[in-house]
Amino acid sequence: MDVPLLAAKGLSKTFASRGRRVAALQDVAFTLKRGETLGLVGPSGSGKSTLARVLMRLIEPQAGSIHFNGDDWLKLEGRALRERRGAIQMVFQDPLSAFNPRATIGSALAAPLRVHGFADGVAELLARVGLTASLAERGIHEVSGGQRQRVAIARALATRPSVIVFDEAVSALDASVRGQILQLIADLQQSEGLAYLFVSHDLAAVRVIAHRIAVMDQGRIVECGPTQDVVSNPQSSTLKALVAAVPRLRKGG
Ligand SMILES: Nc1ncnc2c1ncn2[C@@H]1O[C@H](COP(=O)(O)OP(=O)(O)O)[C@@H](O)[C@H]1O
Ligand SMILES: [Mg+2]
Repeated sequence: MDVPLLAAKGLSKTFASRGRRVAALQDVAFTLKRGETLGLVGPSGSGKSTLARVLMRLIEPQAGSIHFNGDDWLKLEGRALRERRGAIQMVFQDPLSAFNPRATIGSALAAPLRVHGFADGVAELLARVGLTASLAERGIHEVSGGQRQRVAIARALATRPSVIVFDEAVSALDASVRGQILQLIADLQQSEGLAYLFVSHDLAAVRVIAHRIAVMDQGRIVECGPTQDVVSNPQSSTLKALVAAVPRLRKGG
């Protein structure tokens, strides 16, 4: 048995807000192999983004562990964390919120390259996501939604991650652009051996990109398996509802 690149176990996170307690993660476990895409689907509020943020070390769970690439990931601190956290990167739904609005695309890409001491330049990064070097002089507001998401992917690549978490990264794009970005994401995985956690409420997008799918509801993974099996034979009421919401999956898949 080969050891997974990433293995999460027993992750639990409860938020307390305005006197209410929300169990956003309850005993969540999953694995991710090198070069694999795990799709994470579930209704709004099921805990998908919380899980993504725990992986990114943006929030701390109350319980659980993540073993990643030989590290006890949630125990990394200080210098070791700074040196290694670029190994997991994230691409969000709205790239505008993740970029300094006044910076050029070139400077937004140069910063992480500098921090990590990598010599490959901005132009090479842009080329890897199918953009021309001339885009470096533009502002993030000046390019299309699809180009923006390519820039966000380029920035994620800058630290040479082995895992990229996509959190609703194609959800705001229209269908043709979404298809192009999904193709780019798949091509990058092929050429660079990246592993992905691909988070979306949109089963149709997840189905084309994921090798396996995990289904979340109310903080728990209620179902997990190879994409084709899971989509053609949903077991949980959560996944049955998601399948029913995608017209072309309803019959025969
Ligand atoms: N910072 C927070 N404070 C309080 N509650 C939160 C916070 N972040 C998420 N939640 C709650 O946790 C649950 C899961 O949220 P989230 O992980 O964003 O779900 P999803 O990404 O699947 O839509 C929701 O009920 C949400 O309201
Ligand atoms: Mg979310």
